[in-house]
Amino acid sequence: MKLTVIGCGYLGATHAACMAELGHDVVGIDVDAYKIERLQAGEVPFFEPGLSDILRRNIDAGRLRFTTDHLAAADHASVHFLGVGTPQEPRGHRADLSHVYAAVDALVPTLRGAHLIIGKSTVPVGTCAELAQRISLLSHSGADVELSWSPEFLREGFAVEDTLEPDRLVLGIGSLDPDGLNTAAQDPGAGSSAGEVVREIYREILETGVPLIETDWATAELVKASANAFLATKISFINAISELCEIAGADINTLADAIGHDPRIGRRFLNAGLGFGGGCLPKDIRALTARADDMGAPRAVGFLREVDAINMRRRGAAVELVFEALGGEVLGRNIAVLGAAFKPESDDVRDSPALTVASRLALEGASVTVFDPKAMDNSRRVYPSLDYASSARDACDRADVVVIATEWAEFVHMTPEELEGVVRARRIVDGRRCLDPQMWRDAGWDYRALGGPAPTRPAPRNNPSEQVSGFAPGASVR
Ligand code: UDX
Repeated sequence: MKLTVIGCGYLGATHAACMAELGHDVVGIDVDAYKIERLQAGEVPFFEPGLSDILRRNIDAGRLRFTTDHLAAADHASVHFLGVGTPQEPRGHRADLSHVYAAVDALVPTLRGAHLIIGKSTVPVGTCAELAQRISLLSHSGADVELSWSPEFLREGFAVEDTLEPDRLVLGIGSLDPDGLNTAAQDPGAGSSAGEVVREIYREILETGVPLIETDWATAELVKASANAFLATKISFINAISELCEIAGADINTLADAIGHDPRIGRRFLNAGLGFGGGCLPKDIRALTARADDMGAPRAVGFLREVDAINMRRRGAAVELVFEALGGEVLGRNIAVLGAAFKPESDDVRDSPALTVASRLALEGASVTVFDPKAMDNSRRVYPSLDYASSARDACDRADVVVIATEWAEFVHMTPEELEGVVRARRIVDGRRCLDPQMWRDAGWDYRALGGPAPTRPAPRNNPSEQVSGFAPGASVR
């Protein structure tokens, strides 16, 4: 099937490559000429394991190309995915939908005949109904443009796997009546070709038993927002309980294991530590809260403000722990911060807890040196005034304390012997509770873990895709 993917950032580029991998003939379109040039050359402009292989293979096979020419969409296909970014507004908590509107405004007037737009970006509930009105105003008289929404649930670091082997596919279908009112809730499927088209696009995936949940626009929009809100809540829940563990002298890792055995709770996403960051969870819970306010239901998800607050204060708690480790003063002390990405297997530093901690310590007068296996360029761009080292060992050179801020495999597998004679003092703050405390203590280190007394063993990672082993070749494991 011929498809276009509009917006070739993280989501769009992955989606375009994966659709081509399924055998479709795909054109990826973006306004950013540099990005398009790199993608067309088979280079992924960000770090994502496995993506460059798929990209190159499909470009070489002639099933995938990239362009900045928006007119190419109408020429190439009658099915168009929208994968543009919906970041947090610069001043406020709402989602910035300007890229979505710009893409629709550029695409729709060029279309003639029957076309289907399938949105994939994370958008606030009500966006489809607004966009449908815009589409009907912008459409040529000879065009019949249908809008559907199929949110994407991919995780950075597992983007290819999550796209080609998803847990579920969701498709929101709708239409407007002649008065411009959304008729979707009454009969979402009426007169729609979207279900049939989507079943054809994802045939190979659906044949493996992946469920396709067909629903109305609003439900599809809210499915995505609530999935991320739930995940964020789970992380903040365990971090809130870890605050109690700190006072009570209890072990949050054992507690997470014990409650996680209940299948209604589950152990995944119960790793306490520095909390969540990245380009999705923080901005999505804020956007959902802002949308609820706009809808006149501020109390409905008011608890997400607390989820956000718990998450943000973990960063402050990590800074305090470093102060404690250094006897209450960081001024002039050398601090090695290992990790800058918001999580391992990513070079993304958006809202990264690691960099918040590093920059706060620097602001307090410490001499902070950061190392990350993949996120150095992005970190330098965002925090140019921090010092950066070319290896973990270099970052730890004459350090008064080492802070583990992102649980990259090479930090998790680091041994005290490797840092012997490198650091100035044997102090380590485990912001991700990912080290073996006994090993560090036995070697004479002052080991402190964020979220309560040090466990007697490292935090287990029950989710196989969150295992600390089995990292991509790029992550040099010692
Ligand atoms: C998330 C969702 O998982 C994904 O479904 C959605 O499509 C986009 O947002 P992503 O942002 O790639 O994906 O990261 P994720 O793996 O969910 O981790 C988010 C953050 O939570 C990271 O900073 C991670 O370190 C943190 N985290 C995760 C914890 O602090 N504890 C945990 O137990 C799990």
